[in-house]
Amino acid sequence: MSPMTDRRRQVLEDMGIDVWLLRDSTGAAGSVAEVQPDDGGDVGDWNTLQTQVQACHRCSLSKSRTQTVFGSGNNHAELLLIGEAPGAEEDRQGLPFVGKAGKLLDAMLFSIGLQRDQVYICNVLKCRPPNNRNPQPAEVESCASFLSEQIDFIKPRVILALGKFAAQSLLQTEAPVYKMRESNKVLPGTDIPVVVTYHPASLLRNTEQKAQSWQDLCKVTQLLGTNAGD
Ligand code: URA
Repeated sequence: MSPMTDRRRQVLEDMGIDVWLLRDSTGAAGSVAEVQPDDGGDVGDWNTLQTQVQACHRCSLSKSRTQTVFGSGNNHAELLLIGEAPGAEEDRQGLPFVGKAGKLLDAMLFSIGLQRDQVYICNVLKCRPPNNRNPQPAEVESCASFLSEQIDFIKPRVILALGKFAAQSLLQTEAPVYKMRESNKVLPGTDIPVVVTYHPASLLRNTEQKAQSWQDLCKVTQLLGTNAGD
């Protein structure tokens, strides 16, 4: 294992993670996930999907949104991160996780040797619920086919579900995050592993969850065959 850089050590410390935890990570040796060449699904299908999302009026969130937030990153990434729904800043910029929670998400990715352009990031809902209220079941259902088409196109090797809503809607359960974290999960109907972790916004409020979130990130690197400690 190569020594951790000072920058990564600093990021882990900023995340409130004791660096000794790294020694507990047992991922297979390897480097960061490679960016995959854009040789997979039909780019036209992806663009069509994006256009459909932009034009969507399936639910009332289309009336209050500034714009849709489709997702960002490498659409052939090995790792797909799925959050809940755009917040105010995401609604303004049209990009996922660009607010405070997004900064923490960047640090979390950095801690396992990844950058945004090496993964794909999207949300269960493509429109912002007003006043950051919780997504309603009918809204999740309206948006579900967009997310499953994104997953079908990207064909990720691993999905990281960020928070309760993402995890519950992907795994079709009402279990709390701490319970879902306890066992290995796959996306129903597929063999794609789903790692469940706390939402970055929740980590900002509950710093004691950060060590558990680091364990979840180590699980991701194990599944990808990379090593968080490198
Ligand atoms: N929270 C989310 O779940 N998604 C975002 O894009 C931003 C904040």
